[in-house]
Amino acid sequence: MIETIIVAIWLMLPAYISNPLAALFGGGKPIDCGINFKDGRRLLGDGKTYRGLLFGIIGGLVVGIIQMIFISNISNLLQISFPPFSHPSSSTIIIILSLSGGALFGDMFKSFFKRRMGFKRGQSFPIVDQLDFVIGAWIAAFIFVRPWFMMYFNTKIILIILFISPIIHLVVNIFGFLIGVKKEPW
Ligand code: CTP
Ligand code: MG
Repeated sequence: MIETIIVAIWLMLPAYISNPLAALFGGGKPIDCGINFKDGRRLLGDGKTYRGLLFGIIGGLVVGIIQMIFISNISNLLQISFPPFSHPSSSTIIIILSLSGGALFGDMFKSFFKRRMGFKRGQSFPIVDQLDFVIGAWIAAFIFVRPWFMMYFNTKIILIILFISPIIHLVVNIFGFLIGVKKEPW
């Protein structure tokens, strides 16, 4: 069980890391360039910036590449056989980018719907705030690297990820809030 949880975290790490990095390095020009949707509310809001998107995706990519470079060392160290970000029909870079980019695009889509529902920037939207990046990463992986995704994301892994992601997200965000990177602890 513990081993499957660690494998689940391993598989999702590029997605998990992209959000905190976006929060850490984000700021500056918002992706929606300040424009409003036809309902008079912001398209995405000031919480979604180009810098956050770029640093989040690149950070996730770097982490995924580091995982692949050290996969056998880490496997030996923890005595766990970790799945690679590779597959005969899916490129490693595309796999990692699907996870980190998908996570941030999921987060961006969520902001679009939050604004449509009248939520202010940063206002809590329980469960959705905690799973947007997971669903985004899965959809991107399903679209772009389906053979790899189908090979490693079995029902057990999916259920574990759905259970642990909100917990990891909350712990990381509370930490981010305490060190002053995030404005809200969610
Ligand atoms: N961030 C960013 N660019 C992104 C995603 C996040 O700059 N593409 C930064 C922003 O500074 C944001 C912080 O990370 O405030 C936390 O992200 P998140 O909680 O997703 O945004 P919120 O500010 O809560 O906005 P929303 O209500 O739209 O979710
Ligand atoms: Mg938020």
